[in-house]
Order: sequence, then structure tokens, then C-alpha cells
Amino acid sequence: MCGIIGYCGKQAAAPITFEALKRVEYRGYDSAGIAVLSNGQLLVKKDIGKLDEIEAKHSLSSLPGNIAIGHTRWATHGGVTSANAHPQYDSSETVAVVHNGIIDNYQELRKQLASNGHHFASETDTEVIPHLIEDEMKQGLSLEAAVLATAPKLEGSSTFLAISSLDPGKVVGTRKGSPLAIGIGDHGYFAASDALAFSGQAHQVIPLADTEVVILTADGIEFLDAAGNKLAKESRDIKSKWHDSHKQGYQFFMLKEIMEQPQMLEAAATQDRELFTKIALDILRAGQVIVTACGTSRYAALVGRYLFSKVGKKFCDVVMASEFHYFADSVDKNTVVLAVSQSGETADVIEGVQMARDAGAQIVSIINRPQSLLSEMSDHVIYLNCGYEISVPATKSFLSQLVIFYLLSFSMVNSFDEAVNNLKGISNEVTKAIAWNNEPLRKLSQSLKDKDDFYYIARGINFAIASEGALKLKEVSYIHAEGMPAGELKHGTLALIEPGTPVAVICPDDYTYRETLSNAIEAKSRGAYIIGVSDKKNDIYDFWVKIPKVDELLYPIITVVPLQLLAYHLAVSRGHDPDRPRNLAKSVTVK
Ligand code: AGP
Repeated sequence: MCGIIGYCGKQAAAPITFEALKRVEYRGYDSAGIAVLSNGQLLVKKDIGKLDEIEAKHSLSSLPGNIAIGHTRWATHGGVTSANAHPQYDSSETVAVVHNGIIDNYQELRKQLASNGHHFASETDTEVIPHLIEDEMKQGLSLEAAVLATAPKLEGSSTFLAISSLDPGKVVGTRKGSPLAIGIGDHGYFAASDALAFSGQAHQVIPLADTEVVILTADGIEFLDAAGNKLAKESRDIKSKWHDSHKQGYQFFMLKEIMEQPQMLEAAATQDRELFTKIALDILRAGQVIVTACGTSRYAALVGRYLFSKVGKKFCDVVMASEFHYFADSVDKNTVVLAVSQSGETADVIEGVQMARDAGAQIVSIINRPQSLLSEMSDHVIYLNCGYEISVPATKSFLSQLVIFYLLSFSMVNSFDEAVNNLKGISNEVTKAIAWNNEPLRKLSQSLKDKDDFYYIARGINFAIASEGALKLKEVSYIHAEGMPAGELKHGTLALIEPGTPVAVICPDDYTYRETLSNAIEAKSRGAYIIGVSDKKNDIYDFWVKIPKVDELLYPIITVVPLQLLAYHLAVSRGHDPDRPRNLAKSVTVK
């Protein structure tokens, strides 16, 4: 989490840095700040709140100078306070640092530094970095030499950028764990947690590898290895542009991304048949198959588990990535691990994959963002091709993940082309599900916005959609919600149903229909307000979410869409920003 930016060039750095920070605000948005070097002077402005609020108060973008570093924070160590916001600086206020990661040994380092006379102004782990750099620079080292000397002392993950009034004219950065992309533009050079930050401003990008150091000056960039030797690195063109990521008239990215889903499905289904056939064969031959993921990506994996079993007759287990290492003992070279992650950066997923790789397992990743950490660790990578997903709640990436699992399961029976064919009409059906339900669900959200609890039930291949519907609702509307297999309701949760409690029943007219309906009637008998998501009307529904009829293995792609819309409208009707839910961030790069 946290977004970091650095710029060194011929233009005013603060406005460029501010704009770039807005593009990585999805990584954290509880506080932010910018430090600049102007006429050899270090100036810092930072505060709590979202970027626009801080800009209105402090005019971050008006800071002078052509060199800047910036940060947008998701608090890990230390509360959400102005003192804990980044940039952090040293005792003499000559070194400023922005950091993404967690320094595991910061308490020891802090004690040592304090005993040598350093004073700390924040509760952050980050603050040790400028103090350590300060010590090195006092010995006469350049900023890059001080960064090279400091980085090995930091345990854990630390990707950071530093500037110093003692060695002005440059931004120095290094990476450990969290990503750092270097951008080359016409008027200057960039470093950022995500190349999205400078797309449109830079035309080429170079990813920094772990332990490497980069030096940005107005005249060029230089790369060093951990020993300080110069490195030659290759750049590649930046294809996507930031303008792809504008809201295009929608109030929030979440709604824009829901609406984009019909087009995205075609892109997701445009895949390499040979690669899918190879991966499918490896899955079939494997002693065991484990899918690992978090949050929404895990729910896509749970749908995938049903598809693998139903179509490929292959059982696989889905293990929550944060729990994966407790199962690592059983992973071996006969294991195929499928890692599913929109960002390709999720720390829990990365950790599990690293363990599985060390145990000799084959790693197949299903990722949206290119050049991610996860792609570097994988034997095979399947891309979702759904473009930037900016809003914190995952929507279009989820539908694309479902498409990938559908294609993989059919590839197991050598029917990739049939799967592609089956998916051809699905975009139109998703369009219908949106058109039929968007306005009615907006109206429904007005009448349900003060409810405290929602329950979501479904069976079989649709069960994970119940969980995903509940997760979406919690995430953006802050209403308590639970999703579960419909048959499980009577084993405890039914005790919580009171007159008027909303229960969303995902009940397509498929092999799960009769039993799911029967569970819905049990809830209705206790007074539940039944929201039926189905292609078949039924009198027990207090509110019918009509969906089109599709093949039974494709229902999850349809049924989830109205649930995304319901969550969105409830968030907006309760006055929340669904793109930046409280306490959350898009890429969860801490464990
Ligand atoms: C989804 O709406 C959430 N933002 C979250 O659960 C997310 O799916 C999870 O953090 C996993 O992210 P990833 O797909 O980038 O690994």
C-alpha cells in the first residue's frame, strides 16, 4: 500500500507530482504530502485527508522547484496524523523520504539512533530511513552512497525515494519488496509505485529490481546494483495512457467499471489456446492443485473450483492466501499453484507463491496489471486484459477472472474453442442485466439504506457470488453483510433474521433452483425481505432482480452484476465514496 512518486526535470515538480499522486491514490488515502528542493532548500507540506482536501488547505501543487517526492499513505505504523504523514525527515531537516513497505526492525534501529542523539517526530517505521541517511551523509557520502549504505540495514520491505539539501539536484530511490517503476519523459524523469502515475507524461518505463538503486537528475537516470556498480537496463514503451482511466462522465470509477464489463468480457476471452491447453494438461496431471487468492479474487477462484470439478472432473482446493503458508508443508513439485490477483502485488499471495516456488511447485498466475511482482515469480501468466481498475472494489476484474476459469475448465476437456464460442453472447446478457436493474436497484437502495444487516445466499456454482455480493456491500456501504451457501443458513445464521432483514437470494433457474428457493422460503417465514436474483419470477420475492437466462455454468457472470450495482447504489445513497472506502486500499502490499 502507499503510493510514492519522484520527479526530477525541467518543469515545476510539485504540480506534476500532485497529479501523479492522484493516480496512485487508490493505494492509500488517509494522508499525503510532497517535499521539494528549491534553490537548495528542502520544503515539506503534508497533512491528513484525501489529496484534494490537503491541496485545498496547503496548496501542495504550488511548492516551488524542479525536484519533488510525494506520498499518499495507508497507515501501518502510527495513526493517521500529520506527523505520521510522509515525507518523513531527519533531525536536521536536510533529508526527506517517502516510503512504501514495512521495516520489521525499525524499533531496534530507532533505539540505536535515539541513543546517538536523533530525535523522532513521528511514530512511523519510515522515519528511521532519513535519520540513517543523515548519519551517512554526515560522513561525507553522496545521497546515493548513503542510500546504498542504508538499504541493507532495513529488514522487511522498503521501497523508498529520498532527496537531500546536502546533495541537491537529484532524487535517489531503491526497491525491496514493493514495486518501483522508472519513467522517461520529454521534460524529466519519474519514479513511482505504479507506472500509471506518469503515463501520459513519460513515454518509456523501466522496472527497478529488488535492491537496485536509481538516481534521477534533470539530465538523465543512472542505475546501480546493491554494490554500487553501474547497471544498463532496458526500457519499454508505455502503451496505456492515463486518459484511458478518466471517469468518462460517471460520478465514480466503480460505476464506470461496472458499466465497462460487457466490453471487457470479450478482451478477457481473447486468450492463447496453446497456453490454456498446456496449463490445463498440467492441472490434470498434477498430484494436487491449489488456488490461492484474497478477497474478490478468491471468490472468483471458488467459482473456478466448481467449474474445474464440473467440466474438467478435477478437484482443486482454494486456500485463502493469508493462510496458505500453514499448508505449505504439503506443497511439492507435483503441485500446481494457481495464484489469482488483480494487482499481482498482494503481499499474502506473493508470500504463498514464494513458498510454493521454493517447494518446487509450478506457478500459474492470473493477473490484470502487467509487470507485477507476481508475474516475475510465475512459470505461466494469464492476463485478464480488462484495463486499469481504479476503484478499490474489484468489479470488472472479477468478471474477467470468471472468464479465465471458464476457459481453463473447458481446456481440460480440449474444448477451448467451444468455451470461446459459448462466451460470445455473454456480453449482451450482461448488458441486459445492467439495463434491467440499474435504476430499480438505485430506487431500492433508497428504501434499504438504513438497514443494519444484509444476508446473501446461493448454492453450487453461485455460492461464491453470495459471498462476493456481501463483500462488495460491506466494502463500499459499511453495512454488515454475510454471504453463505443457502443450505448453511439454517445451521445458525437464521437466528439473526428478523422482520424486514434483507436477504438476497441468488436463485437462477438451474440445478440449484429448487433447493435455494426452499431456503429462501425458510428465511421469508421468519420475516426476511427477499431480494430474488433470478431469471424466473416467484411470489416469495419482495423485490425481483430479473436476469437473463443463460447456460447454467455462465450464471455467475450474470448474477454478480446486479449485486455490484446494489452495493454501489447503497454506498452512494448513504453518502459514501465507493472508490475510496475507509480503511482500505486497492493493492494490499502488507501482510
Ligand atoms: C475487492 O473488492 C477488494 N478490494 C479486495 O478484496 C481484493 O479483491 C483483494 O485485496 C485482492 O486483491 P488482488 O486481486 O489485487 O490480489
